[in-house]
Parts: sequence; C-alpha cells; structure tokens
Amino acid sequence: GPVLGIEGTAWNLSAALFDDDLIKLVSDPYKPVQGGIHPREAAQHHASVITRVIGEVLDDGPKPVAIAFSQGPGLGPCLRIVGTAARALALSLKVPLIGVNHCVAHVEIGRFASGFDDPVVLYASGANTQVLGYLQGRYRIFGETLDIGIGNAIDKFARSQGLPHPGGPEIERLARQGSYFPLPYTVKGMDLAFSGLVSAAKDASAPLEDICYSFQETGFAMCTEVTERALSQTGKNEMILVGGVGANKRLQTMLREMCDDRGAAFSVPIPQYLGDNGAMIAYTGKIMFESGSTLPVELSRVNPSFRADQVEVTWRDEPVV
Ligand code: ATP
Ligand code: FE2
Repeated sequence: GPVLGIEGTAWNLSAALFDDDLIKLVSDPYKPVQGGIHPREAAQHHASVITRVIGEVLDDGPKPVAIAFSQGPGLGPCLRIVGTAARALALSLKVPLIGVNHCVAHVEIGRFASGFDDPVVLYASGANTQVLGYLQGRYRIFGETLDIGIGNAIDKFARSQGLPHPGGPEIERLARQGSYFPLPYTVKGMDLAFSGLVSAAKDASAPLEDICYSFQETGFAMCTEVTERALSQTGKNEMILVGGVGANKRLQTMLREMCDDRGAAFSVPIPQYLGDNGAMIAYTGKIMFESGSTLPVELSRVNPSFRADQVEVTWRDEPVV
C-alpha cells in the first residue's frame, strides 16, 4: 500500500503519497523576504501550510499504510514541525511511523529514478556536498565538504551581488555569458572546501558573468574530481547526481563527460526529484517500511545533525561479489 512522506528540513514543505510509483506530490516552498533562510520564519511557514498540504495529498486518495517524515539533518525548528505532524497523523490513523534520513532519501529517489543498482552518488545541495556509496549495510561517505555545501556557497556569493535567493539558477544563467579566470581550488584528500572560493569570488574585480562562470568551473571541477576518485577506488561503474544543485546543466555535463571517459553510466533524476521534495521521503519510507524499519514514537525525536552513515540500510541486498 501507499506511504505518506513529509519533507520540511529547510525551505520546502512538501508531502507525497508513493506506492509502486508517485501517486501525488504537493509542495509549498518558503521564500525568504530578503536574505537567506531564517530557521524560525521557515518553521512558521511550514506550520501555517502543513495541514493544507497534507490534506491535499490525502484528499480522495487511498489511505496510507505508514507515515514517513524527514527526521534530519536540517533546521531544528523546521524538523520539529514536521515531526510533530507525522507523530500525530500516525497515532490518529493507527499506522506505523518511519523516520527517514533526508540525505539517504535524496540517494534512494535518485536510485529509483535511474534504475541503477549500486551507483556512486554525488549529493550536491544547499547544506550538503558529499560523495557516497553503499558498502556492507550502510551508505559510506567517501568525501564531503569540510565547511559549507556548494549550494550555500553559490547562494552566499549570489547574495553578495544582490541577486535573489536561491542564487543557483541566476548564477547558472549569468555563467553562460562568462569566460574563465582562476579561483581557489580546494580538494584535500577526498574532501572539499568552498569558503575560500566564496571569499575570492566576492573580492574579484572581473565582470559578474566571468566570476559566475569561473565559480562554477572551479567548484564543479572539485566535485567531479572527488566523484571520479570514488568511482576509481570502489570499482563501481554507475554514478548519479542528486540534490538541488544537481539541476545545474554545467555540473551535469562535467560529470557526464567524466563518466563517459571511464565507461561508467551516468544519470540525474527529473527536476521534481532533485531538490527537497516529499516524494523522496515517501519512496524511501516505503522501502524502509517493507524491510521492517519502523520507528517507535518514543524514539522519534528529530536529529538536526543526522548523518547518512548512521542509518542501517535494511532494504538492500548485499551485492553479489
Ligand atoms: P540539503 O538539506 O539536502 O542540504 P537544501 O535544503 O539546501 O538541501 P535542496 O533543494 O536539495 O535543498 O538544494 C537547494 C540548493 O540548490 C540551493 O542552494 C540552490 O541555490 C541550489 N540550486 C538550485 N538550482 C540550481 C542551479 N540551477 N544551479 C546551481 N544550484 C542550484
Ligand atoms: Fe536536500
């Protein structure tokens, strides 16, 4: 039967019903009046729309067999709104509760959309930039940002130029007109850092188009280098790109070319599954539910720093070696 999933870790309050495929997805994004995301304002937004959003998803649809919610990582005030709604709904409908790790959900909806079995994953979003892959019962983080996510790096630079939030789409548009000059490229082993890139871009005295282009080339090349090394070290031959920054066509092209050169398959999900969305929580909730990973209400506290590798993956078979 269908699982209801509720997402609300940061900017998007979104709910979906997922059975063998998506039945319904409804989203109501929070848009900051100015600047970036204010956690309390975002939580107030979520609280004010969550009843209507869930109501629209459940209206004249089939009754859910379980309620899944994003338990973390994310902004504490936002997570608590979603957690409270999910608990109340599970208790009143008398169905199990499923606590979904937001990062694992980005990975699983990408795997669903690609049909790939065992990919290396570049998860590039606002707060996160990680390269992950499955190994012995967990998603292992092979490399990640040591400071901020690449999406937040792009958004910070965009804000410094007076561009609206989120900055990603506008930076991508401006970059099409730009040409290259060097900016700080920071890869340390398998890890990345973006704050030097942001500072240098803010200080650069070049046309805005050139800074946008060079920012993307530098930041995306860093991500591509670490992803390639993960493919090489694990011997995996599939790769998926997930997270909101995955919408960027230049990043997609760089990764596709890298994969083509290695003879690896590359895939990126449709846009509605890339950024934060309820469908990824509902889908991951469904495969967790079917493998017995339900969450007792008394253990259902949210976790703002929940990491993907803390999740025991009960729903995947060990690959045959
Ligand atoms: P997470 O909690 O997973 O870290 P998030 O809550 O920030 O993610 P996402 O929807 O996964 O949310 O990603 C949002 C980010 O994606 C923003 O930083 C935004 O600027 C970026 N983004 C969106 N479209 C583009 C684009 N075309 N190019 C680059 N970045 C983009
Ligand atoms: Fe996300």
